[in-house]
Amino acid sequence: MKRYLAAAAACCCAASLALAQSVVQPTGIAPRFPKAYKQLAQQTRPPSNNWLLDANDDAERFRRLQVAAGGTDIPMWEIAHRYEELYVAIQKSNWEMGVYHWEKVRDRLNTAGMKRPGRTQNIEALFLDNGAWSSMHDALTSKDRARMQQQFLAVRKACMGCHVAERVGFLNDSAVFTRTASF
Ligand code: HEC
Repeated sequence: MKRYLAAAAACCCAASLALAQSVVQPTGIAPRFPKAYKQLAQQTRPPSNNWLLDANDDAERFRRLQVAAGGTDIPMWEIAHRYEELYVAIQKSNWEMGVYHWEKVRDRLNTAGMKRPGRTQNIEALFLDNGAWSSMHDALTSKDRARMQQQFLAVRKACMGCHVAERVGFLNDSAVFTRTASF
């Protein structure tokens, strides 16, 4: 127990030392906050790599996390990656890999709705609750490759349909949809 406390104390000191240190850049250029984020100028500590720990209070830390976590765009990156890996899984008849990615696509769509509740209606009505998601899941567990391929192309349409509904239909020219247009 004593040893644990000593280790914790040493760790604490190291952390506060890190807080106190200003950043020395290899370029010699002085660190400063981006002009675009005016609120950062209220920070009393100098700009450093401790972009969360050096904030004035927890409200500001949460605000920064919220900014960094983004809205729908960051989950969509992940969704598009997993959607394409699902395509690969079907090509390779690796239904377990397909299920793995497909379940995470559902989770990430829900995260997107948490971050942007104005999109929840379309996420559920056009994807999660209308059979688009579950039919793909059923096709994967059926291990029937033709059914998986057919369902994948229905999923592709559902993704693109939501983009149109959300007024971002121009995104349907994204390379990921061209790469997954047929088997
Ligand atoms: C709510 C309905 C909705 C569904 C369902 C949906 N998307 Fe999106 N998607 C969006 C919105 C809205 C954006 C634009 C986000 C923004 O403006 O920040 C987007 C953006 C994207 C982007 C561009 C991301 C970027 O910024 O680089 C890709 C790629 C994408 N979606 C792929 C998919 C794929 C693949 C699926 C299906 C598995 C899918 N989307 C399902 C609404 C949806």
